[in-house]
Amino acid sequence: MAKSHPKLLIVEDDPGLQRQLKWCFREYHVLMASTRQEALRIVDLHEPPVVLLDLGLPPDAANASEGLRALEEILVRSRHTKVIVVTGHDERETALRAVAAGAYDFYQKPVDADVLRLIVDRAKNLYELQQEHRRLIEAPRSPLEGIVATSPQMLQVCRMIERVAPVNATVLLMGESGTGKEVLARALHRLSPRQAERFVAINCASIPDTLLESELFGYERGAFTGANRQTEGKIEYANRGTLFLDEIGDLPLALQAKLLRFLQERVIERLGGRGEIPVDVRVVCATNRDLKTMLEEGEFREDLYYRLSEITVAIPPLRERDGDATLLAHAFLRKYAERDRRSLRGFSPDALAAIEAYEWPGNVRELENILRRAVIMAEYNSIMAADLALPCSETEISSLRLREAREQVEQRTVSRALGQANGNLARAAELLGISRPTLYSLLSKYGLKGTVAVD
Ligand SMILES: Nc1ncnc2c1ncn2[C@@H]1O[C@H](COP(=O)(O)OP(=O)(O)OP(=O)(O)O)[C@@H](O)[C@H]1O
Ligand SMILES: [Mg+2]
Repeated sequence: MAKSHPKLLIVEDDPGLQRQLKWCFREYHVLMASTRQEALRIVDLHEPPVVLLDLGLPPDAANASEGLRALEEILVRSRHTKVIVVTGHDERETALRAVAAGAYDFYQKPVDADVLRLIVDRAKNLYELQQEHRRLIEAPRSPLEGIVATSPQMLQVCRMIERVAPVNATVLLMGESGTGKEVLARALHRLSPRQAERFVAINCASIPDTLLESELFGYERGAFTGANRQTEGKIEYANRGTLFLDEIGDLPLALQAKLLRFLQERVIERLGGRGEIPVDVRVVCATNRDLKTMLEEGEFREDLYYRLSEITVAIPPLRERDGDATLLAHAFLRKYAERDRRSLRGFSPDALAAIEAYEWPGNVRELENILRRAVIMAEYNSIMAADLALPCSETEISSLRLREAREQVEQRTVSRALGQANGNLARAAELLGISRPTLYSLLSKYGLKGTVAVD
């Protein structure tokens, strides 16, 4: 019988019925048992989705006790299995007892093949649906579309995004470069009632100040030299959707005033325009700069800051997310290995240790870049630490320093002991609590041999 056929265990002691049922369930991979013990062995081995169980089993076929015991034991071993009990014609009460004990359904002899097949098919379908459901709820879920995270720090951020997405409040995403501000802004848009409308992103840092105003607000024909046709700005273009103002900390002061006006009035005026145009956008902005410090230094308007930060979400740097670096590394490995058609199995232990130890100053973006490159460079079927080519990490530095420090202290202590012992090596070794050969090797290690008269 082909492997793909669903398994069905039939527990039946009558050889004639066995044959009949086997024929009846040709579409199944039928496993046959005639005793409770045999049935349990098969359940342990195969975990069949459906069991057809004759309650009148030997040794006392007239009594359902052996059958009921089999039912109980099957369900203990394989609690998701659907057990359909088969009873004699006048054993309705026993059948009900079996259902109360956890049987999925019951069937009374004599056997009508069509009806029995229907019951078994339904049980199998239900089993498969429930199994799929279990798989879905047990599978590691991505907290938000496009976001790979497992750390409590990031899960909290994702929950916050989910919570603020449905309301129209302005959201300020704050985080170091490469922490995922843009992916989160996009996730927020997708979860909002505006998801079917545009998500328009503008990077305030990458557009020269002189152009930024017309980019944001648009212009009328003839507004300035070269303005030969009316052009919509990004704000207007995002109408009904979400406007993502990236690197908001880089917005020049003059434009800050204009943006504030828009946020208060919700109307814009194109450059060279005469009329106000109402625009309905949800504003999300992001910055990697410390806006509070910028406020104090007069580089960012306080009133604008309070407008923009109705809700602020602080995105933690990668080094503060427990377990995320490894998880992201695996995700990027899969992504780039698939793209480059490389069959890489995973990471060597030293590569994983290096990923965990590194500080990731460039955050997720840096990790992604490192992996994109490592997937190309890897010589073996796993990524090695050397393939990552990580710069010397902080931890390595501090352990290096530790070794240096230890050696310095060691050298000084040996010298002092020698001084106290007045150059007597036996005495010095005793003071230090070490053997003479050990002291000799320390003397040569630190070039102290010439300082004492070796006896
Ligand atoms: N949690 C995450 N899961 C999967 N990919 C992520 C995650 N966070 C960031 N990325 C990926 O890392 C890269 C950088 O993310 P993004 O551009 O959103 O960061 P950013 O904070 O806007 O960075 P920058 O300040 O440099 O603009 C993108 O390719 C993004 O897809
Ligand atoms: Mg960005």
